[in-house]
Amino acid sequence: MSGWLRRKPVIGQTSQRERKLIPTLSWPHLVALGVGGIVGTGIYTLIGIGADRAGPSVLLSFVIAGVVCACAAFAYAELATLIPLAGGAYTYSYAALGELIAWIVGWSLILEYSLVVSTVAVGWSAYATGFLHGIGIHLPFWLSAGYNAVDPATGVHGFVNLPAVFIVFVIAGMLMIGTKASATLNLFLVVIKIAALVLFIIVTLPHFNLENLHPFMPNGFSKVMSPDGVERGVMAAAAIIFFAFYGFDTIATAAEETKQPRRDLSIGIVGSLIACIIIYVLVGLGAVGALHYTSFAHSEEPLAHILRTLGSNRIAGLIGIAAVIALPTVLLAFFYGQTRIFFVMGRDGTLPGFLSRVNAKTGTPVATTLFTAVIIAAIAGLFRLDEIAALANAGTLVAFTSVGICLIVLRKTAADVPRKFKTPLVFIVGPLSAIGCVYLFFSLPSKTQYYFLLWNLIGIVLYFCYGFRKSNIAHHISVNDRS
Ligand code: ALA
Repeated sequence: MSGWLRRKPVIGQTSQRERKLIPTLSWPHLVALGVGGIVGTGIYTLIGIGADRAGPSVLLSFVIAGVVCACAAFAYAELATLIPLAGGAYTYSYAALGELIAWIVGWSLILEYSLVVSTVAVGWSAYATGFLHGIGIHLPFWLSAGYNAVDPATGVHGFVNLPAVFIVFVIAGMLMIGTKASATLNLFLVVIKIAALVLFIIVTLPHFNLENLHPFMPNGFSKVMSPDGVERGVMAAAAIIFFAFYGFDTIATAAEETKQPRRDLSIGIVGSLIACIIIYVLVGLGAVGALHYTSFAHSEEPLAHILRTLGSNRIAGLIGIAAVIALPTVLLAFFYGQTRIFFVMGRDGTLPGFLSRVNAKTGTPVATTLFTAVIIAAIAGLFRLDEIAALANAGTLVAFTSVGICLIVLRKTAADVPRKFKTPLVFIVGPLSAIGCVYLFFSLPSKTQYYFLLWNLIGIVLYFCYGFRKSNIAHHISVNDRS
């Protein structure tokens, strides 16, 4: 293959890491790893926005988004054992679908990772501000919300979200000196995150009132425009809530380190996603059952807000503390992923090589991390949570769509290459993942789709101006052609 269809070989990529990694992980590690990457701002904060879009049927949105994610996770797991290299969806697409698609996927991943960090930082900021408020430190609204956010209670406009900017630079600093959450710390924080959610369920479920669930689906199923200019419906909520489920790629990338990949990966992926679906639906049930959804839909810290309204101020405080302590692990994981994508694309020559340069002293990509931090912090500081989260989802959905397609393509084009893990019911799971992601993509706000299109138009121009001519593979082809 030549031109923008040129592909990287599947074999030859596989052997590089395989030799280095020692299988030490079993399924309980994988479940913990998965839940650690998954549980974050999605459930702690976006549940409010989800409820605004779907009403009580946000419960259905959780299930839909979770099932689509589970299919994508299976595809990821197989591809991770087939091509066990950094870069995830970008790397798989390079082997299956050609350089241009890989570039679009990589470009979408850059958007995803950056905006997930911004989104989680904004979610974290709301809980941190709430916590500070609880101990008598009052941060004015204009210093704790983006410029287009409006305080529903007072009508005051935001200006800059200072805590969000702060946490982005703290995480960037940690990455620059080479910090990685250790397995023990990760497990500890996972326990905190889950314990807080379980506590929420225990406190809210006794307040369950069936009347709060009526009408169950006030905005219908498919995305429709409401009179206030917001697109709503079960699918519109699922497209936003989808944010709560990804982060499991951490499991797929650990594929080579698992003792019995076939068993451990299946249990790890299905286990962590099913655990999250159950916990999320119970949290959702607690939330929409205890209070009418309109009373917390616009809160920036909905879980704490619900508990305070129910009179459980202490537990609300604990939930806030858990969020403040534990959400940064998601930030660390996605910020790390961001620098990794730049690194891999820089190494492939599809983006300038300086992006993959590491600092001689720290062994980390200091300059790239700092540059990325400035952009991520600016977005986190200035924009609203729902806007950033939707755009992050757009990038992720495109990457997941391509992973579903890569799975099917590589079953055909690399049928003989051994895989340690094979997706069960592949010709159902693969297409379901791709079609589900496309449906969710089109259920995102129309404005988000336009922004995403714009981002990719810029990306495609950049590819043909740079990557198309400079990529390592392009270079090889021209060398061969000359000889
Ligand atoms: N699933 C992650 C979260 O909800 C991205 O924060």
